[in-house]
Amino acid sequence: MLREAPMARIDFDGPVAAVYQSGRGAPEGGLDGWRAALGRYLPVAGPVLDLGAGTGLYAELLRTWFGVRIVAVEPALAMLRQAPPEAWRAVGRAERIPLVAGCCGAAWLSTMIHHIADLPAAARELRRVLTPGAPVLIRSAFPGDQSRIALYRFFPTAGAVLDTFPTVAEVEAAFTAAGFTLRERRRIRQVNAATLAEFHDKVRHRANTTLLAIPDDEFAAGLANLRAAATTTPAQPAISELTLLTLT
Ligand SMILES: C[S@@+](CC[C@H](N)C(=O)[O-])C[C@H]1O[C@@H](n2cnc3c(N)ncnc32)[C@H](O)[C@@H]1O
Repeated sequence: MLREAPMARIDFDGPVAAVYQSGRGAPEGGLDGWRAALGRYLPVAGPVLDLGAGTGLYAELLRTWFGVRIVAVEPALAMLRQAPPEAWRAVGRAERIPLVAGCCGAAWLSTMIHHIADLPAAARELRRVLTPGAPVLIRSAFPGDQSRIALYRFFPTAGAVLDTFPTVAEVEAAFTAAGFTLRERRRIRQVNAATLAEFHDKVRHRANTTLLAIPDDEFAAGLANLRAAATTTPAQPAISELTLLTLT
């Protein structure tokens, strides 16, 4: 049984769009684990749908890593206009994807599943726009993953927000009802920043749903924690594990 759909968590047409690129991303090689994991599924014959593409951080990586054509679909124009011009770009939502049936060879959903208001509708739409057998590749943090994510060591109250995200079981149920089967569930290690000072420089932009959900004083206290740790352990990298769900 799916929990009630959340109200929009963040307005990505608001101020976050201007700082998103500076607040996210990874150092050189920091996403090699993702490259290796996705290499089992990509490239594919048709274009890859990057759903909720944001500023196209991953559109650009997938294009470079695998030479695939990207269709970036994203509701916030302020985000989408930053996506690489090499991608086909369309304004739209997961619940009503503005594409014809059977046009994409794979779908990539990176840290966006918790923004979808109607997950069963989104799963049905993905079934419609993908070719038969095409993989849906979901990259996300899920409830209970707090200890695996570098951010929540410094911002524990933001970590609590993760428990409002859809669970793996809820995602699987929505996609199963639309005709998909969960094939793989893996944790992928990534380096968010080579040092904690570098991590602080990203995190201070607050380009993260869970950081925007906490009060300003808790955000300031977390940043102070992070600054202190960056001073005492300057060489320590920020490392996290997110989950890759693959459905076909
Ligand atoms: C945290 S960002 C992730 C952006 C990008 N996928 C990445 O990994 O950098 C979440 C994105 O999902 C988009 N989004 C929100 N609701 C959506 C929906 N219903 N359908 C598709 N995308 C949505 C937001 O506008 C935002 O750009």
